[in-house]
Amino acid sequence: MRRPVIAGNWKMFKTRPETGAFFDALIPEILDVEHCDIVVAPPFISLAAAVEETDGTRVAISAQDVYWEPEGAFTGEISVRMLVDVGCTYSIIGHSERRQYFGETDESVARKANAAVKGGLNAIVCIGETLTERDGGQAFEVVRRQIRNGLGQLTGSDLSHIIVAYEPIWAIGTGRTATPEIAAAMHAEIRKTFAEIYNASAADALRILYGGSVKPDNISALMKKEDIDGALVGGASLDPASFAAIIKYL
Ligand code: PGA
Repeated sequence: MRRPVIAGNWKMFKTRPETGAFFDALIPEILDVEHCDIVVAPPFISLAAAVEETDGTRVAISAQDVYWEPEGAFTGEISVRMLVDVGCTYSIIGHSERRQYFGETDESVARKANAAVKGGLNAIVCIGETLTERDGGQAFEVVRRQIRNGLGQLTGSDLSHIIVAYEPIWAIGTGRTATPEIAAAMHAEIRKTFAEIYNASAADALRILYGGSVKPDNISALMKKEDIDGALVGGASLDPASFAAIIKYL
């Protein structure tokens, strides 16, 4: 049995006071939740505040990106050790916005995922095809390549610290969710690819999240699919009431 995960990606939203207000509203709503892991990824500048606000709760805090070198002359970057020091237990890696706007590649994803896991973080690694790739019938091929090149170098035991987020780029922030059937078909393909690279039991244990316009009204249908183990939520994670409703999808 894979434990579900509901993760919120705040992207470039919320100051520290807004972070405090968010958790003040969210925490009382989710005190009784036991059926899933809960992760929130604020911007770097609010990580310390978020760790403090969620101390003693079941909410884990994630960064949205991390650099692979331990330290050095890398202006603007943040290392795994710095994230661990601030109390983060996760980092998102390879989000499609980083791939699209900031030059992230499968190769940098591989380095970051390896550094994260070796340094004691869990990594939520994002993969997913563009609309052109889907319309061109290449969605499976693109995602398989992203897995082989971005994640295929990890060891089997590293994999227990990896969560994969399938986020079709055409569904992010567009209001156009992949249907549960489209998402489930890709999730099955992703699991099959991991079984080929590693083995069936590692692939069975791997948690694969869906991301792209997840909302309170579509989460239940997605979660009913066997291979969908949770969600990475952007826009709808910014409002404590809607994020709480997604967490309580049951
Ligand atoms: P969205 O974003 O839920 O706003 O579509 C998802 C994501 O980019 O992680």
